Amino acid sequence: MKTITFGSTGEQVSEICLGTMMFGNSCDQAESDRILSSALDAGLTFVDTAAMYGDGSTEDLLGNIIGARRDKIFLATKVHKGTDSESITTSIDESLLRLQTDRVDLYLIHWPTVGMDPEEIMQALHTVVTAGKARYVGCSNYPAWLFAHSNAIATKNGWTPLVNNQIPYNLVERGVEVEILPQAAAENIAITVYRPLLMGVLSGKYRPGAAMPDGSRGVDDTRIGAWLSRFGDGVDGFLSMAEELDTHPAALATAWVKQSPGITCPIVGVSSLKQLETSLAAATLELSTEQHDRLTGLFEAAAVQEECGGAFGPLRRERALLG
Ligand SMILES: NC(=O)c1ccc[n+]([C@@H]2O[C@H](COP(=O)([O-])OP(=O)(O)OC[C@H]3O[C@@H](n4cnc5c(N)ncnc54)[C@H](OP(=O)(O)O)[C@@H]3O)[C@@H](O)[C@H]2O)c1
Repeated sequence: MKTITFGSTGEQVSEICLGTMMFGNSCDQAESDRILSSALDAGLTFVDTAAMYGDGSTEDLLGNIIGARRDKIFLATKVHKGTDSESITTSIDESLLRLQTDRVDLYLIHWPTVGMDPEEIMQALHTVVTAGKARYVGCSNYPAWLFAHSNAIATKNGWTPLVNNQIPYNLVERGVEVEILPQAAAENIAITVYRPLLMGVLSGKYRPGAAMPDGSRGVDDTRIGAWLSRFGDGVDGFLSMAEELDTHPAALATAWVKQSPGITCPIVGVSSLKQLETSLAAATLELSTEQHDRLTGLFEAAAVQEECGGAFGPLRRERALLG
């Protein structure tokens, strides 16, 4: 697997990051261990987790399985509690304990919160770095203006700047093309992408109009059914193109993200070793510009109109975001 430079840090990390949100959720510790081992064997060096996953239990599980492999991994985790100073400084200690390590490579604010104070946040993140508990800091789900505002505060005070924004991006959710990706290109910000498969909609397991497969996230998460009915034609065309290219849909969707302008790396989230093996084929799948454009064109209706899901849109519009 190729490595890429992680934004302004100069660090080399694998061009695909392993997401662990399903560890301890739909895969137990033994299967998670097999996934991690296989990913490392394939040359993957970047692992993403969060204190929020399983309310700390995913970090616990990772701490148990990483063991002596810690130094082979560029490990990222995220603040669990609020965005006040005490939450940031206590959350890192709890994460380090669960992860059984003395430092993470990257520490992220998971979500903006209404009433947040960017000055307090940047100072607290700087404290975490100067204490040696994180090498770099960043954020997730930040609109571009908030990223720039936070780094202006850091620069003014001589504090550690944010180097990474982790955001949702895929063939359907493309709102970040408006501000976040151009900002990243201009300022050399590392952009890590979660949800490259649109929560599995682009994995081949869902067919527009068909019942949700047993055990899939589509059974409980209504967003999956809603996307399938809205973008059914696009999904059908996408699945046909995967067939035509003789590749797995999960690899195709991941490769599209990986080769999209402004992206540093996709985060591959899997529930089993089998899924990892198919998704990692994205590492060797090189799309031509024409193929990349054709895929994009299948979802022209989504383009920039389809904002990223969840709380992302409302938070972008929240006039009282900063307290
Ligand atoms: N910063 C944030 O706010 C945030 C939010 C969400 C996620 N994340 C990070 O991003 C990672 C990826 O997010 P995500 O899980 O939502 O991404 P995703 O790639 O959109 O969806 C992953 C899901 O797709 C299905 N899948 C994956 N590979 C497959 C394959 N080869 N064949 C068939 N199905 C396949 C699985 O669904 P089933 O489980 O149904 O089988 C899997 O859970 C997470 O692990 C986490 O590290 C960050």
